[in-house]
Amino acid sequence: MSKLSVTKDGDAGRPESAPSGLVVMDNVNKHFGALHVLQDIDLTIERGEVVVVIGPSGSGKSTLCRTINRLETIDSGYIAIDGKPLPQEGKELAKLRADVGMVFQSFNLFAHKTVLENVTLGQLKVRKTDKKAADEQARRLLDRVGVANQADKYPAQLSGGQQQRVAIARALAMDPKVMLFDEPTSALDPEMINEVLEVMQQLAREGMTMVVVTHEMGFARSAANRVVFMADGKIVEEATPDQFFSNPRSERAKDFLSKILHH
Ligand SMILES: Nc1ncnc2c1ncn2[C@@H]1O[C@H](COP(=O)(O)OP(=O)(O)O)[C@@H](O)[C@H]1O
Ligand SMILES: [Mg+2]
Repeated sequence: MSKLSVTKDGDAGRPESAPSGLVVMDNVNKHFGALHVLQDIDLTIERGEVVVVIGPSGSGKSTLCRTINRLETIDSGYIAIDGKPLPQEGKELAKLRADVGMVFQSFNLFAHKTVLENVTLGQLKVRKTDKKAADEQARRLLDRVGVANQADKYPAQLSGGQQQRVAIARALAMDPKVMLFDEPTSALDPEMINEVLEVMQQLAREGMTMVVVTHEMGFARSAANRVVFMADGKIVEEATPDQFFSNPRSERAKDFLSKILHH
């Protein structure tokens, strides 16, 4: 990958020979005040690839996800989705955000809207789909994540696992090019974790490009093409799940794995 001069985000930081890859982060830096939260991040995610991001709390995983759909700005470097640099604002940014589906730890469903309305909202507002088509697609997606019979209920009437599956359906409704999951099962009761992971496994099998921050090492082993290990704002290690779990190279990764695998 070509080296870049440090510039504000946007076109200016674009490498001369733009690398392929559905998501490209090139030499990305971000600070929160004195904290250098993302340090020289280079990460390319290919179409159809499933990348699991792991690392200790506070290492910058959520911030990394949030820069990919520009919920957070960056100080320098370059981020592109499908060859297009992240726009700064306005219509273009809204369009790009719609290409990047995001699922958070807290489901963020609208409490006063039904499940069906939660899923159709983005299509009606951003995609300007007509209501009948939006409803049909939403029902198909709710069926796909296994909650078709909950369509007319309100979020509070659903279990956490069901709500998170609705959140996944809502993200899919925008027909995203890539899905970001930030600890999607961390807020769930243990018995509901698998129903959400199974939906994610299915998406992975269907070829969805996915970035998944998770502590679910079983998911990482079975679904990931690549594990990215972050610590202190840096990507410390990248490897296949097999390599990473059986033979981590860095002391930081060894230490982290010993803590999460033996508790
Ligand atoms: N909006 C913010 N303002 C200031 N500091 C932040 C903000 N968001 C995150 N941080 C800090 O940045 C660091 C990385 O946070 P985060 O990306 O959430 O890490 P992770 O998801 O790996 O736990 C943490 O030290 C956190 O306190
Ligand atoms: Mg986080």
